[in-house]
Amino acid sequence: MADTLTITDNRTGKHYEVPIQDGTIKATDLRQVKVTNDEFGMMTYDPAFMNTASCKSRITYIDGDNGVLLYRGYPIEQLAEQSDFLETAWLILFGELPSKAEYDKWAHQITMHTMLHTNIAKLMEGFRHDAHPMGMFISTVGALSTFYPDAKDIFSQESRRLQTIRLIAKVPSIAAYAFRHSIGRPFNQPDNELGYAGNFLSLLFRMTELRYKPNPVLERALEVLFILHADHEQNCSTSTMRAIGSSHADPYSALAGAAAALYGPLHGGANEAVLRMLHEIGSINNVPAFIKRVKSGEGRLMGFGHRVYKSYDPRAKIIKRMADLVFEVTGKNPLLEMALELERIALEDEYFVSRKLYPNVDFYSGLIYQAMGFPVDMFPVLFAIPRTAGWIAQWEEMLNDPDQKIARPRQIYLGASTRDYVPKDKRK
Ligand code: CMC
Repeated sequence: MADTLTITDNRTGKHYEVPIQDGTIKATDLRQVKVTNDEFGMMTYDPAFMNTASCKSRITYIDGDNGVLLYRGYPIEQLAEQSDFLETAWLILFGELPSKAEYDKWAHQITMHTMLHTNIAKLMEGFRHDAHPMGMFISTVGALSTFYPDAKDIFSQESRRLQTIRLIAKVPSIAAYAFRHSIGRPFNQPDNELGYAGNFLSLLFRMTELRYKPNPVLERALEVLFILHADHEQNCSTSTMRAIGSSHADPYSALAGAAAALYGPLHGGANEAVLRMLHEIGSINNVPAFIKRVKSGEGRLMGFGHRVYKSYDPRAKIIKRMADLVFEVTGKNPLLEMALELERIALEDEYFVSRKLYPNVDFYSGLIYQAMGFPVDMFPVLFAIPRTAGWIAQWEEMLNDPDQKIARPRQIYLGASTRDYVPKDKRK
């Protein structure tokens, strides 16, 4: 017998058999539940999509209770240990690890598309000196759609592949231009001899030397951070990418929207918020008082908690271990002691334990970024660079999914019923 859910409507006494597939019922199957034939039918109410699967996906798997994260079936720990960002991006986008020939061609194609059109540089120069780099990033990615109008051809696989290469290649350059603009230094040109993370470091930090040599520990740390941030299934920004893409907008416009969703302090802006929080706490002695304030509802412990993970975020574990390697090169971030003390107290405290609030990916990443010389407002940009691979993979999966249509939720209308317009002079 097929799995079904039996629903009894006590208003009418009717029974309904709703098929269960993949542990899920289709929300539209509930539409048959109605009292009279002219009714719209039953809907589900799910603000913030707490219990709604918006798609079927084969990209990323999270087991939030057990702290498991898989990209295309591969555990994040193995990828962080053995892969590099471009290989992981390929895996996320195309479903399998690349062969040697596929990898080499992919890395070459990305390297060949890292340069930005000079008018992009001019556009970016137009921002105020103190413009937030994430604002610059979002606007510039959106502007790319005007440079590549061929991107509108979203149903051409060839065009999608070209835009994918352009986006993954150019986001580090845009990010680096935003950084250089904010510190008043000229833009660097890409160095094709370097890998993805190494070239990014060169774009950011090269001064007058002819060739920038990235520190191998920091270069590898950045690759790992990029791997850890490459995708995370249906989070706020990815859902935004899918929603904008569902109207058949070009990928640059959709990605600018996704990056805007990432900017908020509850999502990709959290690592920036963690550092600001640590500065605000100021000293290890103030940690207990800060925790007390959080528990009384005055603000949140940033970098803690997650909609899906109800255990230690596996990415946070990897980052915490990596921090030691980075600090051996850069010197210890003085805020680390405070972060460790916050974690220690929170993990023993009933408030956090009962709500299953553990450190998430953003709790320690900011400390590493800061030690590597990034200003705090670059943190969300550093998140957006690798997440570009995930956003594009999810966007393509959505476009190729025959179940998908333009994203258009319903509402429960609780406003005024029909009433007549009252001219201004007749209003009370
Ligand atoms: N500090 C203190 N209390 C918290 C926190 C926190 N960081 N997170 C959740 N809670 C409490 C919350 O007040 C609520 O308590 P109560 O049941 O008494 O009202 C309970 O825990 C459940 O919280 P929620 O807001 O219903 O949970 P959510 O799934 O809607 O929110 C979250 C998830 C990530 C937005 C939230 O945990 C949060 O705001 N964390 C801080 C921001 C942060 O670190 N964000 C990064 C997320 S990971 C990377 C990414 O997605 O970009």
